[in-house]
Amino acid sequence: MSDAVKVGFVPFSAAARGILVVFCDDSLKFGPATAKALGKATDLVKRAAAAAQFKGKSGAALDILAPEGLKISRLIVIGTGKAQALKISDFLKFGGVVSGKLGAGKDGATIMAELPGGAMSNEQLVAVASGLRLRAYKFDRYKTKKKEGEEGPVHADVSLAVADVAAARKAFAPAGHIVDGVIIARDLVNEPPNVLYPEEFARRASQLRKLGVAIEVLDVKAMHKLGMGALLGVGQGSSRPSRTVIMRWNGGKKGTAPVAFIGKGVCFDTGGISIKPAGSMEEMKGDMGGAACVVGLMHALAARKAKVNVVGAIGLVENMPDGNAQRPGDIVTSMSGQTIEVINTDAEGRLVLADVLWYVAKKMKPKFMVDLATLTGAIMVALGTEHAGMFSNNDELADRLLKAGQETGEKVWRMPLSAEYDKLIDSQFADMKNTGGRHGGSITAAQFLQRFVDNTPWAHLDIAGTAMGAPKTDINQSWGSGYGVRLLDRLVADHYES
Ligand code: BES
Ligand code: MN
Ligand code: ZN
Repeated sequence: MSDAVKVGFVPFSAAARGILVVFCDDSLKFGPATAKALGKATDLVKRAAAAAQFKGKSGAALDILAPEGLKISRLIVIGTGKAQALKISDFLKFGGVVSGKLGAGKDGATIMAELPGGAMSNEQLVAVASGLRLRAYKFDRYKTKKKEGEEGPVHADVSLAVADVAAARKAFAPAGHIVDGVIIARDLVNEPPNVLYPEEFARRASQLRKLGVAIEVLDVKAMHKLGMGALLGVGQGSSRPSRTVIMRWNGGKKGTAPVAFIGKGVCFDTGGISIKPAGSMEEMKGDMGGAACVVGLMHALAARKAKVNVVGAIGLVENMPDGNAQRPGDIVTSMSGQTIEVINTDAEGRLVLADVLWYVAKKMKPKFMVDLATLTGAIMVALGTEHAGMFSNNDELADRLLKAGQETGEKVWRMPLSAEYDKLIDSQFADMKNTGGRHGGSITAAQFLQRFVDNTPWAHLDIAGTAMGAPKTDINQSWGSGYGVRLLDRLVADHYES
C-alpha cells in the first residue's frame, strides 16, 4: 500500500507544531478555536490575504511561511466559500487540497477542524481526513530512483484538531477502512500486467481471508465442469490460466439473501485475434478495474464489519492472440446454455461477465447484482470521464445508485435498455453474437449482459472512463482511481445494512 500520510486526532487546545492549517469563509471569518490559536496573527492573515488577493473561495489556499508571532513553520488558510452551502464532497475536497499543499514535507501538520460557525461535525471532519489520505496516495512501488526530496516513503504526520477526540476517532474508523479499500483497488489497477495475472490476482483477493471473508477460487477444471464456456473461451489463448474468485462476507442476519457485486477482471486485453492497435495498448492492464473495485469494496465492508451478507465475484482472464486463441466465428456455449457467436474477440468482457453473472444469479440468488466493467470505449464517447454509464432492469436500484453517486461524488448516469436494442445482438448462427454493430456500442454490450441475469434485479456500471486514466482531481492523483468502492459502500450503508 502506497499510503503517504498518517492521520490522528488531538483536542482543539493542543498547541500546533510544524504546519498549521485553518479554514475561513468568503468573508475571511474564522471559528472561535481557530481565532484563539491564531491570536494576534489574525491581522497578519488579513494582510497576507489582501496581498495575495485571497478571498476565501471554496478550495482556495493561502500559504504563509514562518508567520510572525506563531511557533509554527507555515500557516495554510483554506477557503470554504459560503459556509452554509457545504456538502460532504466539499470536505473531501478540502482534505485533498490540504494534502496537496503539504506535499512531500516531513513536517508534522495540525488541521483545525473548525468552520467559522464552530466545530465541524464528525461526518465533515471524517471527510477531511479521508480526502487527505485519498489525495496523498502514490503508486511508486517500481521507482528505484526517487527525485530529490522524495527519498524513501513520505510519512507526514497529520493531526486533526477537534472538539471531541474520542468521538472523532470512532467516527473515522469505518471511513479509514473505506479509504484502505480504495487504495487496494488503485494498487491493483496500477500494477503491471506481468505481475498481476489471473492467478496472482486471485492470490491477492485471497488475502481478504484475514478479515474473515470466505474465499473460493475456481480453477479452469472447475469452470469447465460448470460449463463456463464463454469465460474460458476468452482465456484459452493465454499461457496464464483463468480464475473465478467468489468472496463472501456474512455480516448480516443468517439466511437472508446477499447483495452481490461482480467485476470484470481482464488482467490484460490485447483484443485477442481481433487485436488492438499498438497506441496506448499498455493501458489495457487496467481492464480489471471492475474486479479491483469489488476486492476493494469487500475489504471496506469486511474491515468495517458491515451488517450485511454480501457476495463479490470476479472473472479473471488474460485476452491474448495465440495459436490456441479463440477465433472470430467461433461459437461458445455459456454456463446458462445459451450459445454465443464470437464476432470480435475484443468484445471479451461481456463473455467473461456472462458466466459470472449467471453463476451468481443461480447459485447465490442475491437480492440484486451490480456489475462493474471497463466494458466499452463507447461509454467514453457518450459520457466522458465524469460519469460511469449505468444500465438497470430495476428503477429502485438505479435510483439508489444515482443518489449514492451524488453523495460520494462517484457519479453515474443512467442509459437505456430496450427490446429494440436487444434485437441488434441476435445472430444468424447462434442464440446471440457478442457485438451489435457500430451504433450504441455501450447499450448493446449491456443488452448482452442482461441476457445472463435472468430476473434478478441488476445494474451494470460501465467504468471504462472512470476507473483509469481519468483527469486528476483534488482527491485522486493516481492513474487507477479506485472508482466505485466509495459509491457501492455508500449504497450498502444507506439501504442494506440491518
Ligand atoms: N476493455 C475494452 C474497453 C475499453 C477501451 C476500456 C478503452 C477502457 C479503455 C473492451 O474489452 C473492448 O475492447 N471493447 C470494444 C468492444 C467492441 C469490439 C465491440 C470497444 O470498446 O471498442
Ligand atoms: Mn476488449
Ligand atoms: Zn476489455
